Amino acid sequence: MRQAVPFGWSDSLATGIPEIDRQHIELVDMFRTLAALEHGGDRAAVRAALEELIAHVCKHFDDEEQLMRRHHYAELPSHAQAHDLLLRQIHSFVSLLDAAPDGDAGVDIIDFVGKWLVVHMQQDDHRLGAFLKAEAKPCEVA
Ligand SMILES: [Fe+2]
Ligand SMILES: [Fe+2]
Repeated sequence: MRQAVPFGWSDSLATGIPEIDRQHIELVDMFRTLAALEHGGDRAAVRAALEELIAHVCKHFDDEEQLMRRHHYAELPSHAQAHDLLLRQIHSFVSLLDAAPDGDAGVDIIDFVGKWLVVHMQQDDHRLGAFLKAEAKPCEVA
């Protein structure tokens, strides 16, 4: 069976917005836990960690979208669409995992989510962070 490669937090992922970065660090930690469990082969633990990660991802996306709405961020529609697409993709992987728990769906989820998180944080979330920092008033935190 293929093994997923976990990634870790690095400054290249930072948006410079403390609350977003705090949640991103949490997501990266949860992702690493999920990858380690997948590596260990404990199906029930993988499934539970996946549910927990999905719940945190949903909450994080909601928070980011509220922030974008509050600041009238022009890229909100495409950014929110990217969030929706990820969640749909995760749910379709979860269906595959449930249908064939011993297959490669767990590794596929980790590969896909890991790469998606890095690219999304470095591009979409980074642009959001730059926008929020540019329009912040002195003493204002996003
Ligand atoms: Fe994010
Ligand atoms: Fe985002």
